[in-house]
Amino acid sequence: MTAHDRQSVARTDGDSVPDSSRAWQELTADYEQARAREDSLDRLVEWPAERDMLGDVSGRSILDLGCGNGGKLAELLRDGAVDCAGVDVAGNFITPPPTGAELIRGDLSDPESLPELRGRTFDRILFLQSFGYAKDPVHTLRAARSMLNRDGFILLTRTQPIRYAVERAEQNGTTVGEEYFSTADYTYRTGWNDHIALTKRTYTMSDLLNVFSAAGLWIETADEPRLSAEAARRYPHKQAWMNKYLGILIFKLRPLAPRS
Ligand SMILES: C[S@@+](CC[C@H](N)C(=O)[O-])C[C@H]1O[C@@H](n2cnc3c(N)ncnc32)[C@H](O)[C@@H]1O
Repeated sequence: MTAHDRQSVARTDGDSVPDSSRAWQELTADYEQARAREDSLDRLVEWPAERDMLGDVSGRSILDLGCGNGGKLAELLRDGAVDCAGVDVAGNFITPPPTGAELIRGDLSDPESLPELRGRTFDRILFLQSFGYAKDPVHTLRAARSMLNRDGFILLTRTQPIRYAVERAEQNGTTVGEEYFSTADYTYRTGWNDHIALTKRTYTMSDLLNVFSAAGLWIETADEPRLSAEAARRYPHKQAWMNKYLGILIFKLRPLAPRS
């Protein structure tokens, strides 16, 4: 596989959709409903870890690319963030929109070319489980980098590539190593709505790290968040899932200093 780890989405009726927008319009309500459950991994693991890595946001402007319904941005505004914007292709946003944020229906692949964002810069730019939908990942990350204020950073999360390797090894009766290095796309039904299948271009860790380098970014911090002991006791089925599939990776990315 090349660094192009973009994702596309197909519907299970065989009506293949080359980009994700149509499928996400159907998926979005189910996704948000699943995310809101008290035992969702987003609630128990991902959002607390993302929030932790973002740190103090007071007075910070934030751009959330692939923002879902905008709920995370609304929380950040409550914590003191200012002049925020969110972009999502599904356009299924909370109403009324939170004061201080513009929620934009659009494609995150070319953020700098969205009319609402032209000329704007931000202190923090987020790709929370959305980066895989960029048509050209290096281009999108470079564009995001160019929209960062001085001392700004990008917070980017991705599914552990091992998860897809384990799932495919289970389905195909193969080994994790074979599937991890396979360049075949992976189609699976989402847990949010089993009528819709996502087809993903798989990636290895080196693919992912090389995309960051090619975009002129360095990793200041990486994290592999886990369930707390208390959450593991309360939700043993979630710990069992994590034991098998690991969860997500979180990266804090900063622009490399220009060569003198
Ligand atoms: C897994 S959800 C993550 C949502 C949110 N960032 C979160 O952490 O809860 C992926 C989101 O990416 C959005 N998305 C998919 N393709 C997109 C695209 N090409 N441009 C913008 N948003 C996209 C979907 O509509 C969905 O809201």
